[in-house]
Amino acid sequence: MFKIVKREEMSEGNVILNEIEAPLIAGKAKPGQFVILKANETGERIPLTMAETDPKRGTITIIYQVVGKSTALFKTLQVGDGYQDVIGPLGKPTHLEKLGKVVCVGGGTGIAVIHPITRGLKEIGNHVIGIIGARTKDLLILEDKMKAASHELHVCTDDGTYGHHGFVTDVLKAVLEKEDVKLVVAIGPVPMMKFVSKMTADYDVKTLVSLNPIMVDGTGMCGGCRVTVGGVTKFACVDGPEFDGHQVDYDELMLRLQAYCEDEKQCYEEFCVLES
Ligand SMILES: Cc1cc2nc3c(=O)[nH]c(=O)nc-3n(C[C@H](O)[C@H](O)[C@H](O)COP(=O)(O)OP(=O)(O)OC[C@H]3O[C@@H](n4cnc5c(N)ncnc54)[C@H](O)[C@@H]3O)c2cc1C
Ligand code: FES
Repeated sequence: MFKIVKREEMSEGNVILNEIEAPLIAGKAKPGQFVILKANETGERIPLTMAETDPKRGTITIIYQVVGKSTALFKTLQVGDGYQDVIGPLGKPTHLEKLGKVVCVGGGTGIAVIHPITRGLKEIGNHVIGIIGARTKDLLILEDKMKAASHELHVCTDDGTYGHHGFVTDVLKAVLEKEDVKLVVAIGPVPMMKFVSKMTADYDVKTLVSLNPIMVDGTGMCGGCRVTVGGVTKFACVDGPEFDGHQVDYDELMLRLQAYCEDEKQCYEEFCVLES
């Protein structure tokens, strides 16, 4: 069992942080990599990015949004409980290099995923501009950590309850107009990554995005996570999850993510009835 040693609720209880004992994974993992977790013997395999690793404590930290049956089941696990299986580290680590001015854009729970990458880019000497956004102030996560990981941080909310009133792309456009940006890394909802990439293509700025297709085995064997990048089929679990944002077929990714919507809704409703 992989024991939970710390648990926090954020974003009105809809986003959960778990620090989990997994010394072998903690000793090897790098920013950008993910794990696949199963709560119990009959549980579904769920991919989640490592938001933090602590090789000394032998722990990894995941931050997930409760969106369906399995994440709702994960939410019931408390400190002292554990996950039956945690597999990883999986996927390719982010290629961190010193380039000059870089912008890290995080939306929703994507902020948890972009945080270690932002910190890594700063640590190797880049000037890092962070831009984070959420629908409303109460849903914003990790502002303090992103502030510490960036040289300057811009915060946006869609409804104007905190920071800039509007989308992360508004702030990004202003930054691209006045700074000599060498790289943009954008992680968040697929439409956000699509529109960030559209904008940076106009400014000819290299852009990395982290894709979240449905994954099953996470080792390149089932084909469930296939995405089209530059007209070529890639498996996000082994070829990614990060790809050139200008080459991704976002519309296909969105369609594939919706493939099991009805079944997922039904499973979640049945789970909620059983739990109540
Ligand atoms: C590499 C990777 C890293 C991820 N990192 C994070 C993270 O750090 N934090 C976070 O909140 N979420 C992350 N996700 C998304 C997370 O895996 C899904 O939200 C989760 O699987 C939903 O499961 P569910 O049973 O609760 O919801 P369901 O009701 O089953 O599904 C809700 C939606 O989640 C997606 N989904 C469902 N099953 C899977 C699956 N097996 N693999 C991928 N997506 C699925 C689909 O879009 C689906 O419509 C990541 C996904 C990938 C591929
Ligand atoms: S999850 Fe099976 S090939 Fe990627």
